[in-house]
Amino acid sequence: MSLADELLELAAATAREAGRMLVDKRPADGPDVVQTKSSPTDVVTQMDRAAEQLIIERIRAARPDDGFLGEESGGRAGSSGVRWVVDPIDGTVNYLYDLPDWAVSIAAEVDGEAVAGAIEIPRRGESYTAVRGGGALQHTASGTRRLRINAHVPLGKALVSTGFGYEAGRRARQAEVLTGVLPNVRDIRRGGSCCVDLCSLAAGRADAYYERGVHAWDIAAGGLIVQEAGGRVEGLHGAAPGPELAIAAGPGTFEALHALLAPLDPARD
Ligand code: IPD
Repeated sequence: MSLADELLELAAATAREAGRMLVDKRPADGPDVVQTKSSPTDVVTQMDRAAEQLIIERIRAARPDDGFLGEESGGRAGSSGVRWVVDPIDGTVNYLYDLPDWAVSIAAEVDGEAVAGAIEIPRRGESYTAVRGGGALQHTASGTRRLRINAHVPLGKALVSTGFGYEAGRRARQAEVLTGVLPNVRDIRRGGSCCVDLCSLAAGRADAYYERGVHAWDIAAGGLIVQEAGGRVEGLHGAAPGPELAIAAGPGTFEALHALLAPLDPARD
């Protein structure tokens, strides 16, 4: 078994276990908000922390020398060349309101490049996995299927998903950009979880995704899944996606969305 396959096995089993715990242990009257981060709307619940703790324990027990970057606990250097990039609940606000689109996202990087990614979406009964060079898969109760992204969709016929940050200034600029995008596309979706949006894109349930200001833990596993389904995941003018703009789509659609966004959303923050 290759290193990437081994890492995927651990990522998928851990994401599944954390997802099950998050469903089983979610308090009936909703989780408590225990902290706010970049703004009062940027919340952390006790369940985000519990899930990240479980994931850290499982990964540390199996691979004690690996590095780690988690949304809730930050970074820890390792000595093996492998780093885990984890969002214990991507879509925390959906989880808070008991909306189904939230996910556990776990990626493994080797020398800085994501080589394996697993995303568990428990309330949809879906898991997504990818190994670099090995394609992207969707797993459900009815079986496993290989994913192929929609390609060459003209923007006017493209269903485009996006997301918003939590700080007021960034949100105001994102609303301005949205005003420029909306008249040019079939429609917009704001699902509330970056990695669920990326899985939906890889599965052909949307044609493109963009967002300014996503973090490594939001996009590490989902970005690999989109690429392995045949898509492109980049920032403006070939930059790495991340703190600036992230654009994800199939060939043809990617270039058209990039051309629309570049003048609307030059790097401004
Ligand atoms: C958020 C979600 C959301 C995106 C935000 C992210 P969180 O992650 O992915 O869709 O628009 O930018 O911060 O806070 O729920 O882990």
